[in-house]
Amino acid sequence: MSRKKIAVIGAGNVGATAAQIAASKDLGDVVLLDIVQGLAEGKALDMSEWGGVDAFSGAVRGTRDWNDTAGSDIVIITSGLARKPGMSRDDLVAMNTRIVQSVSAEVARVSPKAIVIVVSNPLDVMVHVAGRVTGFPRNRVMGMAGVLDSARFAFFISEVLGVHVGDIQGVLMGGHGDDMVPLPRYTSVAGIPLTELMDKPAIGRLIDRARKGGIEIVNLLGFSAYYAPAAGAVKMAEAILKDSRSIMSCCAWCDGPYGVRGAFVGVPVVLGSNGVEKVVELGLNDDERKAFAESVGHVRELVVKVDGLMDAAAKPA
Ligand code: NAI
Ligand code: 2OP
Repeated sequence: MSRKKIAVIGAGNVGATAAQIAASKDLGDVVLLDIVQGLAEGKALDMSEWGGVDAFSGAVRGTRDWNDTAGSDIVIITSGLARKPGMSRDDLVAMNTRIVQSVSAEVARVSPKAIVIVVSNPLDVMVHVAGRVTGFPRNRVMGMAGVLDSARFAFFISEVLGVHVGDIQGVLMGGHGDDMVPLPRYTSVAGIPLTELMDKPAIGRLIDRARKGGIEIVNLLGFSAYYAPAAGAVKMAEAILKDSRSIMSCCAWCDGPYGVRGAFVGVPVVLGSNGVEKVVELGLNDDERKAFAESVGHVRELVVKVDGLMDAAAKPA
């Protein structure tokens, strides 16, 4: 079987860490691209030399030339501005639309068969931009947020219960924003429903912390999280490359399930060699359905804004 090729766009905190994790897992040939001269090249060389320390074979190539990413099987898009204290993810919309738009056009040009995993924020609408610009079938365009948000929820639960985080399966839906929808009824601890182990107020506190998980780190660091986000993107890439058919919460095209008529939103999906193989439809109660609908509504409002920006940019001056 020929080696797979993974392009990581943006060699900042998330992109470089994703390249590092993908290389150390030897998922394929990793190419790291950035517009800043020397950045991707320098970090890639450092990572490749790390292979000499720990004897993994996945050398990383750093570049500013899109042709070096040609024929990628997976493209992870992390290019764009990240939040600073006091900023919401939505504050990034104008700048990151331009960046993800130009990057997506290059992806479609050089890697027309790729599966695209977007990480740039505001996540759900940046997935929309990548979908619109590449024109790829919807199953080949998705975003990473639910894996991160449910991992955060799982970690907070593990801290409170004093159990291994690996025993916790956190389930979460909706957009990657403060109105994301953690689902305690579907969250389990070694198969035991969370609702059997914690009371409502305690769960409510953890939901609140998961919703604010991104800004908690921004306030500590002065910039945004990257270890867990990068690991989340690589986890999705790995499931696709290995056709593992794992179920994860991802930002995926949803047209029908949950009553959503055509939008990229966070839902549980089966990931396999075709990308999103299937959206998994859970039964939601009235409160969950309402919270999910509100979150989707927020994503749709931003999509209208982003489409307006893209349409205006496309008009001749
Ligand atoms: P960063 O600032 O460390 O890195 C961004 C990189 O993108 C920079 O190196 C920059 O030179 C590069 N870049 C900008 N325009 C480019 C272009 N046209 N082509 C190639 N590279 C370009 O930011 P960080 O922390 O890596 O975050 C990246 C993005 O991911 C941000 O939008 C951030 O908000 C988002 N993010 C999303 C998460 C999620 O859960 N979906 C979690 C964490 C971050
Ligand atoms: C996060 O949740 C900033 O979206 C990024 O950490």
